[in-house]
Amino acid sequence: MILVTGVNGQLGFDVVKELTKRNIECLGIDREELDITDKDAVGKYISNLKPECVIHCAAYTAVDRAEDEEEICSKVNVYGTENIANACKNIDAKMIYISTDYVFDGQGDTPFEVNGNIKPHSIYGKTKYEGELKVKEILDKYFVVRISWVFGVNGNNFIKTMIRLGKEKESLNVVCDQIGSPTYTADLAPLLCDMALSEKYGTYHATNEGYCSWAEFASEIMKRAGLNCRVNQIPTSEYPAKAARPFNSRLSKKSLVDNGFNLLPSWEDALDRYLIELK
Ligand SMILES: NC(=O)c1ccc[n+]([C@@H]2O[C@H](COP(=O)([O-])OP(=O)(O)OC[C@H]3O[C@@H](n4cnc5c(N)ncnc54)[C@H](OP(=O)(O)O)[C@@H]3O)[C@@H](O)[C@H]2O)c1
Repeated sequence: MILVTGVNGQLGFDVVKELTKRNIECLGIDREELDITDKDAVGKYISNLKPECVIHCAAYTAVDRAEDEEEICSKVNVYGTENIANACKNIDAKMIYISTDYVFDGQGDTPFEVNGNIKPHSIYGKTKYEGELKVKEILDKYFVVRISWVFGVNGNNFIKTMIRLGKEKESLNVVCDQIGSPTYTADLAPLLCDMALSEKYGTYHATNEGYCSWAEFASEIMKRAGLNCRVNQIPTSEYPAKAARPFNSRLSKKSLVDNGFNLLPSWEDALDRYLIELK
């Protein structure tokens, strides 16, 4: 049995869907069933259920709001993760922790290896990294999987926003100097299931293949969704946000390849399939 947290979010939803499709016994839970910040409740819940693996997709993900809510963000991303890792330790279960490109310093133009230069620029990134450290301190049987620019059918994301704005506006300004890779949760979910069934523990990066800027991504969304909205490329300096974003979010997939896991399809291919799924 595999336990999945964050089932009402983008990734958790597709992970449960994939496990169900494979006929793997699983349970998806969210805050109503279990608040991960409640240490005693997490310990009891997991020791009663005794899953072989916990795929931990729940997180505090409001990147800008986190700048004003460090305590609550930390409570969920650091201590919630610690609670789950301790509960896994008690029953000798595996744990998959989902992390982010925001842990890196975001400098340069080459892909970050898994042991690249860690220097989060935001509260969200810092708490996600501290969550990684908790998992690594407590467990041996762990996977830390860093992903970026996530989109899935169950929740809000950049693509849904672009489609909505693309229908309302003739043109849009989108930043062109942050480069990374989109990650389609329906493509990531099979990889996470493969990991859960393996013993190839360690730290990984997993996104769809290929890199783009947010502006390039937006242009492709407009084109492929048949929307007549012009995308103007602007620098980050003209689009101020509360939390700093990395300029370079390129992630190396060497650890996936070295361990015999499949790479995800290209982001363009993922976008086409996602637009069909949305219909
Ligand atoms: N979205 C991205 O672009 C992105 C990029 C890189 C990495 N990631 C990571 O990928 C993972 C999945 O992201 P996502 O986009 O699927 O997230 P999401 O859609 O925001 O879903 C997160 C889920 O976690 C739940 N949650 C929050 N606090 C909780 C608590 N105290 N107890 C139990 N559940 C709680 C939320 O429930 P409520 O709705 O009730 O709050 C929500 O259903 C996360 O670890 C995230 O940090 C995301």
